[in-house]
Amino acid sequence: MFQTRYLISFAVLLLPFCSRGEITNDAIVRATAAIQAATPRAQADPAHPIFHVASPAQWMNDPNGPVFYKGFYHLFYQLHPFSDGSGPKYWGHVRSRDLVKWEPLPIALWPSSKAGETEVWSGCCTINGEGQPMCFYTSIGPDKPAFDRADQWAAIGNDDLIQWHKSPANPVLSEVVNGGKKIYDWRDPFIFNDKKKTFLVTGGHMAKDREAAVNIYEAENSELTQWKYRGVMFQHPDAGAPTVECPNFFKLGDQWVLFVSPYGQVQYFIGDFDAETCRFQAHARGLLDYGPSFYAPNTMQVPDGRRLVWGWVNGFPGGRGWNGCLSLPRQLSLSRDGELRQEPAPQLSKLRGKRVEWKNIRLANGGETLSLPKTNALEIRAEIDMQTAKSIELGIKSGAKGAVPIVMHSNGAELQVLDARAPLSLAGGRRKLTLRIFIDRSVLEVFANETVCITKIISPLDANATMEIRAEDGTATAKRVQVWPMETIW
Ligand code: FRU
Repeated sequence: MFQTRYLISFAVLLLPFCSRGEITNDAIVRATAAIQAATPRAQADPAHPIFHVASPAQWMNDPNGPVFYKGFYHLFYQLHPFSDGSGPKYWGHVRSRDLVKWEPLPIALWPSSKAGETEVWSGCCTINGEGQPMCFYTSIGPDKPAFDRADQWAAIGNDDLIQWHKSPANPVLSEVVNGGKKIYDWRDPFIFNDKKKTFLVTGGHMAKDREAAVNIYEAENSELTQWKYRGVMFQHPDAGAPTVECPNFFKLGDQWVLFVSPYGQVQYFIGDFDAETCRFQAHARGLLDYGPSFYAPNTMQVPDGRRLVWGWVNGFPGGRGWNGCLSLPRQLSLSRDGELRQEPAPQLSKLRGKRVEWKNIRLANGGETLSLPKTNALEIRAEIDMQTAKSIELGIKSGAKGAVPIVMHSNGAELQVLDARAPLSLAGGRRKLTLRIFIDRSVLEVFANETVCITKIISPLDANATMEIRAEDGTATAKRVQVWPMETIW
């Protein structure tokens, strides 16, 4: 079913590229053919997620340029169309009217080989002061390797963001703008506005493999083609941080939040930004996800002001015609004590099928086994009052012999999901644990008490899966356990 849908979408949407001479684009035509050829196999793979955004086939990584424009949520992503391993990057594209159902669209951005590009790396989308949709990205080529010579390019989109042309002003930011300051791995432009000014931040580091820093630029014209360097906005405080990739910088309430991907777990910093001096002072920090499989997130502000984030879910086994997907959209907020909170976007509840529910299961030094719906795409919501129990354990088990259970364990100070550990304090009479667990074939995403997230790659469950909840050393009550089979987003 997915397959036919993809093939029709591609065939129809590719027509404009082929029929109108001025926008014929060989690079996109070849890349699309490669995706189409790989799609039947990728879609037939029982491990391919169905309610996480993914390319129809082949390799994908970072989410790029999330933007709400003319009634659609658009997401782009790093795509290597020619194999299911990493290689030269294009921008793939999907859109949605409601964050629930998504539509695959033709490849949006391609390397302009005549202009010396071989890859288009990560970046953002914005609407410039003239009302034109623009994306900004890092341009890579044989003469401009990522480590020390890349520059930042822009493309201008049509109203549905399907057709793009490269800006005649490219490179919109070349090394010259940095006025002699060397920035290594200078990349991943992200644009934000404050005090009626438009700023762009980039990732990178100021010395070889150290001095990770976010640099900042201020727009000098409304077309966003001229920029002025304003210096280092944020020097990473850890001496060991080799670089920062994919900076995202935005306001949540009255605080500013910075996300950076330092070749390891994604970090957030919360603090104050001064638009005059262009400096960010962080006073709190944490991790966005404690698993090993969430990286390079990108955020979108939706019309009602909420901020959503998607990350790249990685670490899948190779050789299946696909590799990679995006996380679920997570809604961000700050708690009253200034902690970053993340919850699944509320729209995701529209994907739920028929609910199975249990209430007030008393767990006294032992466990209860619940039968899960016969699907390997589901959401589980468990509200547990730990009462006197020293710890709680949830084990989701395939019926198959020898299957390794997905074990989650909380002792009131830490949450463990398989081998990933996250601090999660249930102290001070608040011994309540709410877990939202999303299992999408080979993707596991866990949200605990709306603060801690853990993403892991798993083996898909089989049709006879069960969940056992146990209390250890004392009593606990599973106040409510709800399980829904989840529908596909396509
Ligand atoms: C992060 C990253 C970005 C870069 C892109 C290339 O995963 O390394 O810094 O722009 O991937 O695909």
